[in-house]
Amino acid sequence: MDLPDWRVFKRGELSIVSPESGLVTRNRKIIVHIATSADGYIARPDGDLDWLTGMPAPKGFYGIAEFMRTVDAKVLGRKTFDQSVKMGAPFGANDRHYVFSRQEPPATAPAGVEFVTEPIGTFAARIRGGSGKNIWLMGGGKIIGSFLDEDAIDEFVVTIMPVFIGEGIPLIVPKHRQVPLKLRSATPFSNGAVQLHYDIAPRRSD
Ligand SMILES: NC(=O)c1ccc[n+]([C@@H]2O[C@H](COP(=O)([O-])OP(=O)(O)OC[C@H]3O[C@@H](n4cnc5c(N)ncnc54)[C@H](OP(=O)(O)O)[C@@H]3O)[C@@H](O)[C@H]2O)c1
Repeated sequence: MDLPDWRVFKRGELSIVSPESGLVTRNRKIIVHIATSADGYIARPDGDLDWLTGMPAPKGFYGIAEFMRTVDAKVLGRKTFDQSVKMGAPFGANDRHYVFSRQEPPATAPAGVEFVTEPIGTFAARIRGGSGKNIWLMGGGKIIGSFLDEDAIDEFVVTIMPVFIGEGIPLIVPKHRQVPLKLRSATPFSNGAVQLHYDIAPRRSD
């Protein structure tokens, strides 16, 4: 491909920018796809997901199968990983699973699972600039907050369930922020859930 030294395509698709500009090469997006209660929680305080798993889902299961075809790597916080293992989630070796933790990694991990201690900024630059499909940032709220604060998220797809649960683990760990969002779509489902798809606006201030 014959490109000049610098050239910027639409955010998240391909960015090749001169070294002087300090911007990174970017051709994969990091996307949060997650379900929340209508009051903004992703789990009860003890991690219970009864309010979510017990809710009848509409045909098509909120478009998750289509979304999964667009990703080939998943990022999880260590607590979400532990909870997934407890719930018997399969970790197929076809997709890479990156589990973020500040602790020593366990001696063994399921095939396709890699524990990561690399700083999020360098991890995101490296993975966005590599080849492959998009990356699913699965959660939970602490790792989403950490990625958001490093400007390491491109899109949010939030499926809001029609239920208040009163207390729990928030979608994004609380902190003063101002992150403008650009709405791509708002999709209602027959069970009363609504899916909001946002781009993170390119310029933001905290
Ligand atoms: N509703 C949904 O769709 C949905 C989706 C995903 C998860 N969940 C739920 O969310 C809950 C967990 O969420 P959570 O917010 O408590 O935890 P989390 O984000 O899954 O994991 C937090 C852990 O990630 C690691 N971590 C966070 N920031 C880091 C950083 N900057 N660098 C390195 N490691 C970092 C730390 O691991 P160490 O402690 O090992 O250092 C931290 O304790 C679970 O109950 C899960 O079921 C719900």
